[in-house]
Amino acid sequence: MKTYSFPKNFIWGTATSAHQTEGNNKNTDWWLFENNKKKNQEYPLEPSGIACDSYNRYKEDFDLAKKLNNNAIRISIEWARIEPEEGVFSEKEFKHYKEVLLYAKKLKLKTFVTLHHFTNPIWFFNEGGWLNLKSPFYFKRYAKECAIMLGDVVDMFITINEPQVYSTMAYTTGIWTPNKSNPILSLVVIINFIRSHIEAYNAIKSKRKSYQVGIVENIAHNQSDSNIIDKLAASILYFVNCDLFIWILRRHLDFIGVNYYFTNNVKRLKRKNPNNLVSDLGWWIHPQGLENVLLRLRKFGLSIYVTENGIADSKDLKRKEFVKDMLISCHNAIKQGVMLKGYFYWSLIDNFEWHHGFWPRFGLIEIDRNDNLKRRPRKSYFYYKKIALNNSFSVR
Ligand code: BGC
Repeated sequence: MKTYSFPKNFIWGTATSAHQTEGNNKNTDWWLFENNKKKNQEYPLEPSGIACDSYNRYKEDFDLAKKLNNNAIRISIEWARIEPEEGVFSEKEFKHYKEVLLYAKKLKLKTFVTLHHFTNPIWFFNEGGWLNLKSPFYFKRYAKECAIMLGDVVDMFITINEPQVYSTMAYTTGIWTPNKSNPILSLVVIINFIRSHIEAYNAIKSKRKSYQVGIVENIAHNQSDSNIIDKLAASILYFVNCDLFIWILRRHLDFIGVNYYFTNNVKRLKRKNPNNLVSDLGWWIHPQGLENVLLRLRKFGLSIYVTENGIADSKDLKRKEFVKDMLISCHNAIKQGVMLKGYFYWSLIDNFEWHHGFWPRFGLIEIDRNDNLKRRPRKSYFYYKKIALNNSFSVR
């Protein structure tokens, strides 16, 4: 029997985002996208609609996070609600989010708050969204207002969730709105995201220097055991996806957030899973990849949080093993000097999985869409609960 113990004050949490859980997020570009499907348009498979109704049922969700013995929660707040028209901030919505975050604080859950998680206000979208050279100005103004209005109930600010994923899905593969297929546009978007993060970082810090501000990046491990070209492709991909972005931002980060889901195994310049250990979405389950990513980030000397790690597994058959193995990787990384301070499982509840709709089930808690969105903790919920309680787990 081997026991894996985590450092004192280790953060145990779960993550969600506004659009995926709140419901009726009508003032966003995603809402337009979902509700104006053209003939022959494949995605999104269904609209988000009421989602999980977490806008109203957040207390129920946070109570379940508390019962999970967690000491933190990661959520996002919705820019489109807070600034429904350009330059007009909604007192009502600030009040709402203040209540939400205060409730988390009351339960002694540390609050990790993302300001941008893929969705945009319609006015911003109509002005060209992240292609607009003024986007950093708009984002900074919003971030500053959030620091003023919510700073006292936010423990960790996360400016932007997964800039590369958004720019690729919306501007290169064209699957997400505005459905463009031009890598040059993706590059422009990335540059504007970088500028926006720096502006937002400075704006939040100008309100209070002690505010903690970071960014969240989706980092896959990239590897190849095939020919030299594949190996080269994997290393370039890894460098661009992981090191370059963080290196550019390193002076404007108090911490790094890593979302890890899978490893890209490159074969003949394509992603090819070496075995069929996969999630319901076909993503290769490779826990060593997480350890590799964490070790690669060690050189930046910053605190790191795994801000998302999870599996689409509707039958809950693989989730327990998945969590255990990923946490062994986290533990190994800590032992090798990585300043890993916390782990957030994605997700607390099943939610709207973007263009796929609701079928991929990532939740520790099932949302029964046929029974008034009833929350039903899965077996894996109780496994994670025990780990968080003991700050350790044992493996035979
Ligand atoms: C995103 C989440 C998403 C999850 C699973 C991450 O890339 O931040 O919004 O639900 O992956 O696909």
